Amino acid sequence: MEVVRTIEALRAAVAAAKSEGKTVGLVPTMGALHQGHLSLIERSKEMDSFTVVSIFVNPTQFGPAEDFTRYPRPFEVDAEKCRKAGVDLIFAPLVEEVYPEGFATYVEVGGVTEMLEGAYRPGHFRGVATVVLKLFTAVEPKRAYFGMKDYQQLKVIQKMVRDLNLNIEIVPVPTFREPDGLAMSSRNAYLNPEERQAALCLYRALNIAREAVDAGERNAETVRQKALDVIQSEPLAKPDYVAVVDPETLMPVDCVDGPVLVALAVRIGNTRLIDNMLIGGQS
Ligand code: PAJ
Repeated sequence: MEVVRTIEALRAAVAAAKSEGKTVGLVPTMGALHQGHLSLIERSKEMDSFTVVSIFVNPTQFGPAEDFTRYPRPFEVDAEKCRKAGVDLIFAPLVEEVYPEGFATYVEVGGVTEMLEGAYRPGHFRGVATVVLKLFTAVEPKRAYFGMKDYQQLKVIQKMVRDLNLNIEIVPVPTFREPDGLAMSSRNAYLNPEERQAALCLYRALNIAREAVDAGERNAETVRQKALDVIQSEPLAKPDYVAVVDPETLMPVDCVDGPVLVALAVRIGNTRLIDNMLIGGQS
């Protein structure tokens, strides 16, 4: 496994793999790798013959009051996890490599960026879309792998790919959870034991919503309220939003008459967690 830090070295390594007839899969990450990231890597290894993992804590997607500086960066541990997982190439650039002096071009995806996370984190998806497009043009992968844990991010990337005619297949990967249901996240490391326990209310709320719909509830506001009640009954939890939305447009729905996405963002102490669940498929 090779580790490269410049776009030039990345391009050379990818070109060598392509010249051997390999197909390239890209897994963009910010590091602090956990089993969720590893499930993306596994999927890439199943579908493509050369897997590139990028590890870059992207400053442009963090707001001024957010956790950019304290975001965990255990590079050696991450590299070892990648090596064990059979990753072919790690791209771990410095901030100056991605955003050199005078950098001034950004990608603004419309529509699906406005609500949910977009409403609470102004500029977040502009930073995400910009860095992901830069990774796409540097690697030119056949496929790129994104987790459904960050469902809105997945939709933003899919929209960017369509709108800009990028010749890259976006592969969604299901959310990987701890045995007790908490969605794996690099930010779970911020939680103390009491907060870790409180964080279970996210998954509980999603399940309450799913059970209500499975039992025949069709009023989206009733479903939303049931999920919100679960969050509000946890003293350490403060909801930013709980929403029942169309899985494609991410706009709120009135009636659950097909698949809907229940999406939530909750602050547990100083840690902001998000989770979501697709419900109402065939029932
Ligand atoms: P990061 O939070 O490190 O996540 C990298 C990828 O792993 C994303 O596609 C995310 O959805 C996926 N992922 C995270 N937790 C997961 C889980 N529990 N199950 C399945 N997949 C999971 O998302 C980012 O980084 C950044 O915004 C990035 C796309 C790299 C751009 O900077």
